[in-house]
Amino acid sequence: MQGRCLSVILAVYLGILVFSCSSSSKRVLVQPTAIKGAEPVGMETCLLCHEDIVKNFKYTAHARLHISLDNREVLGCESCHGEGSLHLEVGGGKGQYIINPGRNPTVCYQCHLGVKMAFNFQYHHPVREGRMNCINCHDPHGENIYRAKGMRIGRENDVCMQCHQDQTRPRVFEHEALREGCTICHRPHGSINDKMLVEKDNNLCLKCHAQIAIPNSVTIGDFSHTTRLAQGTCWSAGCHTAVHGSNINPHLRY
Ligand code: HEC
Ligand code: HEC
Ligand code: HEC
Ligand code: HEC
Ligand code: HEC
Ligand code: HEC
Ligand code: HEC
Repeated sequence: MQGRCLSVILAVYLGILVFSCSSSSKRVLVQPTAIKGAEPVGMETCLLCHEDIVKNFKYTAHARLHISLDNREVLGCESCHGEGSLHLEVGGGKGQYIINPGRNPTVCYQCHLGVKMAFNFQYHHPVREGRMNCINCHDPHGENIYRAKGMRIGRENDVCMQCHQDQTRPRVFEHEALREGCTICHRPHGSINDKMLVEKDNNLCLKCHAQIAIPNSVTIGDFSHTTRLAQGTCWSAGCHTAVHGSNINPHLRY
């Protein structure tokens, strides 16, 4: 019992530390979605009932959030969940005067306008259509906001693998490009290019495969591509259709 009390006190203390050290680098963002009639109560209050989430919060990507609201500051939890006083008054509960952005990303878009734009491009993951959400790929309370463990240190593709097994399964002739992660070629949110590609043309491939051009001749990867390049993109001209790897052809033809 004493140990538990101590840890709560310690967590409150650390919580205050988080507040005070982050206030030294004031960064004012936009106002959060207001919950009508509610007041901000601060992260220490949430600790009473959501201990694990609060304790871990200082390690998360959003630990340094600052928001100004009528000259007061709303910090941390309430920047995404809205002001907490009414939620508290009724003793908490699902759907009780609190926003759950896991179902609706509106609150995320207040700060991430660029991401909102990306999802509005013609080719996008169906978040707008309500078929998936930020939390399919992001873990808002996690030490790593990217769902895949160790993302950016070699296992970036795991987050995509959950849903796209066909592109991620092992092949006899791997395309080494995939080791750099799917996002070397695809935008994760949306893009103006079909299949959410980073580039719509051969530049997608040429950033890694040097093209040697001398008058009247183009060589890529030791092969002459002089006539081929006129036929379309590297992958759509009936050439390297197996961009994610092949089981039959080392040149990723099929
Ligand atoms: C970056 C925005 C963001 C911040 C900041 C944030 N949350 Fe969340 N929270 C979410 C999202 C998104 C979900 C939905 C997650 C899901 O359904 O898996 C969620 C879900 C929850 C839930 C319900 C589901 C669960 O995991 O138990 C609780 C409780 C919660 N948050 C509490 C907190 C507390 C307490 C804090 C502050 C320490 C906090 N959140 C900070 C975005 C945030
Ligand atoms: C008095 C206890 C209590 C306090 C204090 C409290 N909550 Fe809750 N909260 C709950 C309970 C109980 C639930 C329902 C949990 C469940 O059903 O799994 C809940 C659910 C939530 C959910 C999920 C809502 C949903 O519709 O899915 C979020 C988000 C949340 N709380 C955020 C917060 C934040 C942020 C704070 C601090 C401002 C806070 N809570 C303070 C008790 C509390
Ligand atoms: C109040 C503003 C605000 C809200 C609301 C907000 N974010 Fe953020 N988010 C930020 C800021 C600021 C950063 C950059 C943090 C930094 O650079 O220290 C960030 C960073 C991120 C990152 C990148 C982290 C990294 O290190 O690469 C992701 C992913 C992210 N947010 C997702 C979300 C999601 C999902 C939601 C909604 C559940 C959300 N954010 C809500 C302000 C916000
Ligand atoms: C299909 C998976 C997926 C979904 C869904 C998704 N993200 Fe991302 N997000 C990623 C990946 C992967 C990255 C890392 C991109 C990189 O490193 O090139 C990322 C990066 C980010 C970043 C940091 C870089 C940037 O573009 O600003 C933010 C912020 C972010 N996401 C917010 C969101 C929000 C908000 C939502 C929901 C509206 C969302 N994401 C939905 C996969 C996803
Ligand atoms: C939670 C499941 C899920 C995750 C995780 C996911 N996707 Fe998707 N992806 C989808 C859905 C659903 C579609 C839309 C398919 C449709 O409309 O038929 C899609 C579409 C795509 C498309 C376009 C396909 C086409 O035929 O136009 C590409 C490319 C893609 N995703 C790449 C990725 C990448 C890269 C990642 C990792 C950053 C990723 N996806 C993570 C579910 C997911
Ligand atoms: C070297 C660049 C490159 C990399 C890396 C890459 N892709 Fe692709 N991807 C493409 C191209 C090009 C297309 C379009 C193929 C077409 O239209 O025939 C595509 C198409 C797709 C499609 C649509 C269906 C299909 O197969 O045509 C999905 C889904 C997809 N990629 C997912 C992924 C995932 C998941 C990863 C990571 C494991 C990944 N891609 C890595 C280049 C890449
Ligand atoms: C991130 C870097 C990168 C990108 C982007 C990339 N590749 Fe590769 N690719 C590699 C590496 C590394 C290898 C293996 C070494 C080699 O053969 O050059 C490879 C190998 C190949 C091979 C087999 C080599 C052979 O002997 O025939 C083909 C074909 C290929 N890539 C086509 C493409 C196409 C088509 C695209 C664009 C859709 C593309 N690559 C984009 C890095 C990349």
